[in-house]
Amino acid sequence: MRLTLGLALLAAAIAAVGAQENAACMPLQQPSGQALKAAGDNGITNPALLDTLVKTLPDPAVRQWANDLFDIWGRLTRQLIPDVSQNTQIYTMLPVPNPFVVPGARFRESIRTYYLNRSQPPLYSAMVAIVYEATQDLSILRNHLPAILLEHAYWTSPPKQVVAVGPTGQRYNVSRYYARWQQPRPESYIEDLETARKAGLPTDPPDADTQQLWRDLASGAESGWDYSTRWFADGENLTTIRTTKILPADLNGYLLQMEENIADFAAELGCTALEQQYRQLAANRREALNTLFWSNDDSQWHDLVCTPAGVEGNVGSTPEDQAVQDGIVTRVCNVEQLTDPFASNWVPMWAGAVPAGSMQIAQRFLSTVYATYAETGRMYEKFNAEQIGIPGGGGEYEVVDGFGWTNGASLDLMQRFGFSTT
Ligand SMILES: *[C@@H]1O[C@H](CO)[C@@H](O)[C@H](O)[C@H]1NC(C)=O
Ligand SMILES: *[C@@H]1O[C@H](CO)[C@@H](O)[C@H](O)[C@H]1NC(C)=O
Ligand SMILES: *[C@@H]1O[C@H](CO)[C@@H](O)[C@H](O)[C@H]1NC(C)=O
Repeated sequence: MRLTLGLALLAAAIAAVGAQENAACMPLQQPSGQALKAAGDNGITNPALLDTLVKTLPDPAVRQWANDLFDIWGRLTRQLIPDVSQNTQIYTMLPVPNPFVVPGARFRESIRTYYLNRSQPPLYSAMVAIVYEATQDLSILRNHLPAILLEHAYWTSPPKQVVAVGPTGQRYNVSRYYARWQQPRPESYIEDLETARKAGLPTDPPDADTQQLWRDLASGAESGWDYSTRWFADGENLTTIRTTKILPADLNGYLLQMEENIADFAAELGCTALEQQYRQLAANRREALNTLFWSNDDSQWHDLVCTPAGVEGNVGSTPEDQAVQDGIVTRVCNVEQLTDPFASNWVPMWAGAVPAGSMQIAQRFLSTVYATYAETGRMYEKFNAEQIGIPGGGGEYEVVDGFGWTNGASLDLMQRFGFSTT
């Protein structure tokens, strides 16, 4: 968004309006001008990839679908206008020089300034690994490794990194989601005020518990699981969210992957000391995952909860979280919509759960996405896990279409497993 005033001035103006009942409001104009322009295809998609893929698809309907998905990439590509980098103080957008793909619908950009205070699950090194594997271009590793090391330091510094003490006193460095933010999220300001009120906490002014609630909400957004009952102390109410007290199994799995990727990249580049350092960090984290997070009782990794005395392992997957039929089920609903835990499935949960050879899950996923696309002409963000061809529901906002990760996962699975509508 382009603001007509600087952010600091705007915040002061809003505070002044709140403080004085009859404050002479500053004449805030409607945002003028657009920070984003469509960037068209702009080199982000690769027509040769489309040709290669289409040749492997015998079904003309599926071939047409793949072509449509490539067209959608073009429509989802954006570039910032130069003014964003020249007048940073009047935009809520971070200035980035290159074109990028937006998810779609209400998510028209992915680079808000609030990402200075929170991140997203750390999958950067995994993306670089995929590109390197496909291209074998060492310059990719050389160019990206410094930023990946910075990202690793970010996730392994306090307050994101904490020491967890195991049952026999072993100490492990593990990480958690922890946003540097104690206010309502700018993108969900009203919702966060409302959650504080429902929790019976003061908002004007907020007290320490209110600020903690807002930090836990922002940290839940950082996790990408906004909002799963996984983060709720009572397993039901968003008001009991305690994201920062949980040591998440998946986050530590991502970090293990990052540490192994860094060691592999260092090996490719001949940086032996760096490789050894990260092999050791990976070995430590693997031991933490196997010792603290793994449960022999149900053969699952569980999240841990921080307590003043250490950590306890009592949260994690509920029976409903297990795969149902051929679908992969996650609970992403908040309390108001908790009636059907299977109604709503984030696409990456499906795509990530398709190990090589898992034809059945891939076909199930492609069938449901294709059926919805054939019916509505839309690519949705999430899907019902129990019924073919139904978009997902529930959560903080209405299901949206576009959609970056669905298009990517569909093309990827089509390429790996093939797909036919007959
Ligand atoms: C945890 O990490 C810190 C630095 O971030 C390091 O000094 C310490 O030795 C690590 N502890 C363990 C148990 O690995
Ligand atoms: C957000 O992070 C910036 C530094 O990146 C810091 O200066 C600012 O105080 C943080 N904002 C809040 C609300 O904590
Ligand atoms: C929290 O959940 C309980 C059920 O465990 C429910 O009775 C209660 O109404 C919920 N509280 C709020 C504020 O929604």
